Formats: sequence, C-alpha cells, structure tokens
Amino acid sequence: MEMRRRNFDHEPEDVPKALDRTLSDLQLEYLDLYLIHWPVKEKKGLYGNNPGRYVPADIPSTWKAMEALYDLSRVRAIGVSNFSIRMLDNLLESARITPAVNQVECHPMWQQEKLHEFCKTKSIHLSGYSPLGSQGSGAKNKWILADPIITTVAKELGISPAQVALRWGLQKGHSVLPKTSNEARLKENMDVFDWSIPENLLCKLSEIKQASTHLNS
Ligand code: A2P
Repeated sequence: MEMRRRNFDHEPEDVPKALDRTLSDLQLEYLDLYLIHWPVKEKKGLYGNNPGRYVPADIPSTWKAMEALYDLSRVRAIGVSNFSIRMLDNLLESARITPAVNQVECHPMWQQEKLHEFCKTKSIHLSGYSPLGSQGSGAKNKWILADPIITTVAKELGISPAQVALRWGLQKGHSVLPKTSNEARLKENMDVFDWSIPENLLCKLSEIKQASTHLNS
C-alpha cells in the first residue's frame, strides 16, 4: 500500500509524524512502500504563487529519517519520486539504503530511457505514473491515446490505445500505475498480462516523438 502526501514533511522530525498520520488514515500497521514525493520542500501553509513557498530541500537528512523508518520495520521499502539521474547520484553518495523505487511520469511520449538505464545500473526499480499521460497537464493523455503510431499498433493487435501504452511500459521493464474512476476502463487496463506486443511493433513505439526529457539527466 502506498500513499502520497505533499512536500511539507521533509524535516527529519516530520518524517515519522507524516508516516503516523498516513498509517492512521489507512488504519495500517506498516506501509509496503514509502516515497519522498518530490525532491523539493514546501513551507507549511503556503500555497499557489507565494514566492516563499519552495525552500531548499536537504534530501540526505530526509532520507536518513526514511532509513530509520525502514530499520524499525514501519515501512517495508523506501523510495523516491521525480528524481533525475543527478539527484539520484547525489542521494546515493550518502544513502545507507538504496531507494527501492524511483516513481516518475513515464509513457510512450516520455520514455525516460536514460533515467531507466541509470536506475537499472543501481538496482532501483522505475515505476511509471500517468502511463497514459497526465490529467494535470491538459490534453497530454489525449495526445498519447490518439497518437498515430499508438493507434496503428492498437488496430493491428485488436486492442485499445491505452492497452498499447500500458503493455509497452511492462515490456520496457518498468511498472505502470494507471488511474481510472471507470469500471470498464479499469478492466481494460488490467487486461495487459497474457499477451505481448511483437518486437517489430515495439520498435515502432520507440519512434514516437518525445514530449519532454528534463528528468533524463
Ligand atoms: P477516467 O478516470 O475517466 O478513466 P492520471 O494521469 O492522473 O493517472 O490520469 C489518468 C487518466 O487516464 C484519467 O483521466 C483517466 O480517466 C484516463 N484513463 C484511465 N484509463 C483509461 C483508458 N483505458 N482509456 C482512456 N482513458 C483512460
């Protein structure tokens, strides 16, 4: 079970308190995976365009507090989210425990190849959020599902564009975290395990124009 919060709890003394709140909300004794949500720190109570909202984050000290939760078996694994190669490299210099997971936006239009390769060399699992595109960034998911390469592959295999995007992620070796509030789409999104995209069509998907690459380095 994983639950994400915002970026108010980077101070080492706030890390266990944030976990306590989450465990209480979920009525659980431990979490399977606990992530640093973003490599940025926000001042408590400041929102919107407030210029003082973001303050420098001391990731090594936050990570030390995460490691302590792992040592106490209050979480079974610890990881990060939205970390670039450079940020992971910096963290690994002082980390006693390697992050189990780096969760980042990842889909056929943001394939995160360099970041994924780096994660593999460090035994960090890459987990892809918004695998169909991000609701928060306008019509990006529509672009993915309407992309001509995706729709051609979907037509050829007799499956939906969403299933192409999800299965692409699984075959690339990362996990995919699709979200839906619709039961039929939930079933569709789960039906991606007993078939595969043939190699020639997988190669076609690598040709999709990349929307963004800033987390690659
Ligand atoms: P819906 O809940 O109406 O299905 P996020 O990037 O936040 O994970 O959002 C995922 C988006 O993709 C949501 O807008 C969700 O809408 C949509 N979605 C999820 N599964 C499918 C699917 N199989 N086909 C089309 N859209 C989907």
